[in-house]
Amino acid sequence: MSYPECLEKVVKQIEPSPEEREKIGQLADKVWVLVQQSIGEIIGDETVKAEYHGSYRHDTWLRGKADLDLFVLFSKRYALEEMSQLVKKVAHSVAENLNAYVEERYASHPYYTLVLPDGQEVELVPAYRVSSSQEVTTPVDRTQLHTEYLERVLSEKPRLKAEIRLFKKLLMNLDIYGAEQSVHGFSGYLAEILVTYFGGLENLLLAAANWRPGRIFIPPSPEARKLFQGQPIVVIDPVDHKRNAAASVSQEALSKLILIGKLFSENKDIMCCLLDPPNLRVTLEELVSVLNSYDVLVAMAAKYPKLPEDALLAKLQRIARKSSSAMESYGFRVLRTHVTKINGSPAILFFFEHMVQSPIYLHMGPPVWHPNSVEFVKKWASRHLAPIIIEGRVAVLRKRIPLDPRDYLLKALKSYPGFSWEINKLRDIVSYLPQEYYVEVYRWVTGVENWTMCIQ
Ligand code: CTP
Ligand code: MG
Repeated sequence: MSYPECLEKVVKQIEPSPEEREKIGQLADKVWVLVQQSIGEIIGDETVKAEYHGSYRHDTWLRGKADLDLFVLFSKRYALEEMSQLVKKVAHSVAENLNAYVEERYASHPYYTLVLPDGQEVELVPAYRVSSSQEVTTPVDRTQLHTEYLERVLSEKPRLKAEIRLFKKLLMNLDIYGAEQSVHGFSGYLAEILVTYFGGLENLLLAAANWRPGRIFIPPSPEARKLFQGQPIVVIDPVDHKRNAAASVSQEALSKLILIGKLFSENKDIMCCLLDPPNLRVTLEELVSVLNSYDVLVAMAAKYPKLPEDALLAKLQRIARKSSSAMESYGFRVLRTHVTKINGSPAILFFFEHMVQSPIYLHMGPPVWHPNSVEFVKKWASRHLAPIIIEGRVAVLRKRIPLDPRDYLLKALKSYPGFSWEINKLRDIVSYLPQEYYVEVYRWVTGVENWTMCIQ
């Protein structure tokens, strides 16, 4: 099927079915009543009200991905800490009624997630009731204004809801959906306002094809240029001109979208594939043959700190970056790293250019004018490789005693408290991995992603 006909099929796949709408709608109503009742009992203040916001309210959620964002709105008479404590009590009393459990999570301040027996989640978010951006004190207060804005725009152009769903699906298939620190991608709200601004997915992608990171101001204005200079992409929040709604988007996530925009403007049919990518099947033999061609080490954390999932993944990404540069200083070259979970344990994969260290390395001393420079050259003068001067500094080339890279990697990883690591060559452990990991490992080693499979 070709573009744009294929979009209809995808829209049908991602639009919630009538049964799902019915089921989620009933649940949402039930939870709302319980929360409102519990607010009456626990807080006893009629001005405190629960309201749904986010994609459930805007009707831009994807099939199978309903997440209910229930905001509990307070007047400014309440202190933030007090609000959180009250919502916590409400969450626990409602949870008991629903046979659910409560998870405490943190954004700018704590919020409480009810996890129902079937896995469905409802987020209870304490916030202040506001009527304009000047009144906003905590970042989540702005959400009410987002709803107001989107309800107005989407009621005028209901066609955009399908376009927003398509864009969210595209971002998911590209692994750049979500503002979390472990993704640094496009939030649901950003997807909504981008599609709205450009009047649809096609125009958005055609515009993205001409974007240059650091020079994207939507809408363009001298004020935005001044306020947000240096950020990869600036999308002014329509409800708050002092906020960049795209602040979470990394250069990497943005670059991927720009490239997709360019591929799309060259051949629109690629969108059919991007939105409904082919399945990749990989046998153990294929995987082993790929792994035999490259040097990949996997560090699995047998012990790790108890952190929320997103924070843990973000921490592992930082560890991956820092330990790679430590490996470089030991004379190895790490081309790429990848953070994942294997059998529930956090793992970092290191893709090496070579696992044999260079036999010599440069050991830099002080500048020649420094009091210690004479001592330095005296110390090294009797050696086989004499001291040299490089860019005004004394230096010496030293031989290295090559060691197993695993020992160096362990040394690099040791500096992170709360973790204990097991390091193996990926090819040595792959046959012990459950089959469901074959495709992921293959994809990672070869770089194959959904979108690369769609390039003709
Ligand atoms: N929000 C925001 N900035 C973020 C994350 C969230 O402004 N980085 C606000 C938005 O107003 C959003 C609401 O919080 O509408 C709910 O957030 P979330 O559930 O993450 O996104 P949704 O828009 O509901 O999208 P979905 O749940 O479909 O992913
Ligand atoms: Mg949501």
